[in-house]
Order: sequence, then structure tokens, then C-alpha cells
Amino acid sequence: MQSERISAEFLIQNSRQQWADIQVLDRIDSTNNYLKNKSEARLVCLAEQQTGGRGRHGNQWQSPDAQNIYLSFSWEFETPPEHLGLLSLWVGIVLAKTLETFGLSEHGIKWPNDVYWRQQKMGGILIEGSNLSPVLVVGIGLNINMQNEAGIDQPWVSLSEALDKPVNRNHLLIAMLDALYEAMEQFVHMSPADLLRDWRRWDLIRDHAVSFMDNQELLQGKARGVSADGKLLVELPSGEVRPFSTAINTVRWK
Ligand code: BTN
Repeated sequence: MQSERISAEFLIQNSRQQWADIQVLDRIDSTNNYLKNKSEARLVCLAEQQTGGRGRHGNQWQSPDAQNIYLSFSWEFETPPEHLGLLSLWVGIVLAKTLETFGLSEHGIKWPNDVYWRQQKMGGILIEGSNLSPVLVVGIGLNINMQNEAGIDQPWVSLSEALDKPVNRNHLLIAMLDALYEAMEQFVHMSPADLLRDWRRWDLIRDHAVSFMDNQELLQGKARGVSADGKLLVELPSGEVRPFSTAINTVRWK
């Protein structure tokens, strides 16, 4: 499904926040790459299409034209907080809350920051450092109106399907950009305990069986929330609960 084009003018006029600039490109390899080569903070880059969209763990992020949201923004913390390791969880929480205000329910986050709806992936987050400065680049991919796409090797869903109606990306983007800016400013003042309390509400895999690789060994256990530094806590068959930061291979949802 083709949707209306994303309009930089609309976003600049309607965003309540102080983004330094909001750019919308027709096509780029990756909006994260684009911002990694700038040194300024509080820039927003959106693209209608990415030819080399990247996900976590070196995965590709399928980025067909004019259907989804491919958004990156740059941010600099004057003094990076000690709980910086929780930032990716926090961005996921903010995304989940924004989608809730947009009418979505039955969604949550699969650790560390994949947005899921009914066991299907709707979005993901990739946070990287800039090549030029201490600026962080936060990249968000969200499936919005995409209906068919070859080459995605896991169950996925679009927001329009979950809401059962077409989604106006410009309106959603205003909500996202306002919420993200506010949340980034808030992040430095937050206590990890507050954030982890919020996390609990959105944590989709808590108490589910998970498997993952640890030092070339396939481990299985039950997810038991996250540690103060954002690692996944897993209860192993021995009863011991340990933090892990490697990617989850499988989740037994039921
Ligand atoms: C993941 O779940 O693996 C993270 C996906 C992140 C995709 C977004 S789309 C905008 C930005 N540009 C990229 O190349 N990647 C991120």
C-alpha cells in the first residue's frame, strides 16, 4: 500500500520540540549512516526508502519505498549518565507508549527493544555512535503500511494491519518526534528503578522460555526481567538467575 509522502514541512511546522533540523530524503543507504557522518546533535533524518537499511547484529532492515518509517536522530548528553546502558530499553518504552496513544493495544517489547504485536515484530531500534563526535545516533524502523515484503525471515506485522486501518505517517511522526525529544531530555534525570518499573509493564518475554547462545553453547531458561544495567535476567535450569546480553534465538510464547 502506498501512503502519503512524509513532509518535512509538516513535521517542522507541527513538532512542539526544539529539533535542530528535520530532513526527509527520498532514498539513502541508511538514515543512521547519514547521521553518523554529521557531528551536530538534535538532527532528525527520515527516508522514504533505504537501500542498505541495517538492523541489530548485522542484519538487514527491509526498507521499501513510501510505506514505513525509517527515522534516525542524533543526540548528545552533556554528561552521559551512568545508566546509559538502559537508553535502548527506554527508547523502546517510549515507542510502545506512543503507539498506545495512537490506539494500539496488545503490543509490548521483546528484550531489548523490539516492538511486537501479537508475537510479530513491528519495529526495532539501532543505537550507534557517530563517526565524528560524541553524538549518539538513534535509529528506529517501524512497519506502518507494508503488506508484502520478501526477505524478512521472521513473523512481522505492520501498524495498519494491527489497527485495521491505514496509518497517516505524518501524524504518527509528530507524536513520535515530540515524545522522543521529551523522553531524551527526561532520561538523564530518571532513576534506573523508575525506568525498570516502566519496563515491567511492556516486557513481553518475562516468564517465557528463551534460548540463546552463550560462548558457543545453546542455553535455555526462563526470562526473569532485566538487570539494573539492562541485561536480560535468565533463570537457568539449575535455578540460578544470571544476566546475559547476547541475542535471544527463540522465545516460547505460550
Ligand atoms: C533491529 O530491530 O534490528 C533494529 C532495526 C533498526 C532499523 C532502523 S530504520 C532507520 C535506521 N536506519 C538504519 O539503517 N537502521 C535504523
